[in-house]
Amino acid sequence: MHSKYDKISGTYLFHRPSLLILDPELACDVLIKRFSSIPNTADPFKRHNDLQYGLIKLKGDHWRFMRNLISPIFSAGKLRTMSPILEQCCSRLIRNIEDKTKNGHSIDIKRMFGDFTMDAVAAIGFGIELDLYTTEENEFIKKAKGIFGAFLGFGVLINAFMPPLYSLLCKLELDIDRQNKYCLYFKHLVEQAKKLREDNKKRNDLLQCLLDAHKETDLSETEQLLEYKINKEQWKKKGLTTEEVNGNSIMFILAGYETTSTVLTFTVYCLATNPEYQDKLISEIDTSIGQDTPDYDNIQKLEYLDCVIKEAMRLYPPAQRAFRETHQEMEISGYRIPQNTEVSVSIFALQRSPKYWEEPEKYNPDRFLANNKSNLTPNAFLPFGLGPRNCVAMRLALMEAKCALVTIFQKYMFVTCDKTEIPVQLDAGALLRPKNEIFLKMEKRKSKVFDH
Ligand code: HEM
Repeated sequence: MHSKYDKISGTYLFHRPSLLILDPELACDVLIKRFSSIPNTADPFKRHNDLQYGLIKLKGDHWRFMRNLISPIFSAGKLRTMSPILEQCCSRLIRNIEDKTKNGHSIDIKRMFGDFTMDAVAAIGFGIELDLYTTEENEFIKKAKGIFGAFLGFGVLINAFMPPLYSLLCKLELDIDRQNKYCLYFKHLVEQAKKLREDNKKRNDLLQCLLDAHKETDLSETEQLLEYKINKEQWKKKGLTTEEVNGNSIMFILAGYETTSTVLTFTVYCLATNPEYQDKLISEIDTSIGQDTPDYDNIQKLEYLDCVIKEAMRLYPPAQRAFRETHQEMEISGYRIPQNTEVSVSIFALQRSPKYWEEPEKYNPDRFLANNKSNLTPNAFLPFGLGPRNCVAMRLALMEAKCALVTIFQKYMFVTCDKTEIPVQLDAGALLRPKNEIFLKMEKRKSKVFDH
């Protein structure tokens, strides 16, 4: 479509018209300047489970209030305090690798990074330590994977294509997408985690940050919304309700699990299939931080690490599109677009377009080096979206991915084997991910740094 229609094209999602943006300047216009709402967000008066109170689902003033409250949770200061939790997740990851690679067999890195990010979501999100590498699937993992499946399932399709039917099914309390079942589990979990904190000992996880912002109120949420519509200043005084704490906790699992694991998987796949860049990365790690434990501060020194991850996200952005919706009829690039039309920016198309990238299909992290920056087209690289509604947890996701990669490359390197699928096949569902397992061998590095 990009080669045929260039900047902008119209599509239909069944009966619903949807505008597709394929141009960086228009992307900036849509994502940064003109829109803040995303489509299919829940009607505030028809919320049927706590997930509907998560940031990603909100609109207007309610979204603005929540975004202001949640953004500081991912500030540099807060992330520094989360570093020790992540350090433990990385130690568990490396112990698992040592165990799995003893016999020299290849390992499925998609599974390995899936386990790692699940461990990190539980530990950083809820302060829960999952015994995930040694036991069979536990309840947390089953439910987290379940809610993810439900999130992308049948109910979501109905919601997207026939919102009135979806609202009706919800009103009838039919748990069409099974979200309620899973939400209930996490609701209990948050309650349990809260009870465990009654010792008044502060934790440094995401749940604690939400609880600190929590304030019980006598008004029901509907009453609050009515009041706040009249007096917007009231938002500033509002704390988080129980539903909002639960909803955002669940949302952290949904948004944080597969995205980060996919980025790690593709980064390592790209490095194994392009070993010259893997060597460059290892050499940077050895000279800049050696065998020091990676944390929020020392990973900032690793420029090439940043480049290898960015280049993997350019070729394989987990979120392929960023979605918005028109609040009123408006003109975009000379076209009249009706109110409530979905407008999406194709992250995938922009990041692989020969118009903006030299040899776009080639993995070449050097293009992101500081001295090559002048060659980059502004807004043609947007794996975390753009503007006020971009990924609120970008820093956390990058810290998690970088600490995991440094921990691994301090000891191991990846090589392809007979079972490695080259080129990798993509499964382009709601999120972009590898279609099949990705098998690679991990070889212990013989480095002077840790031989003595
Ligand atoms: C590498 C991993 C990740 C990628 C590539 C990613 C990508 C994105 C993208 C493209 C958006 C939409 C941006 C837009 O429409 O402009 C988004 C939104 C969001 N992401 Fe992420 N994300 C990642 C990790 C995470 C993590 C770990 C969390 C939570 C712990 C998270 C929470 C969110 C939330 C809450 C939003 C909605 C923000 C809002 O509506 O205000 N993401 N993410």
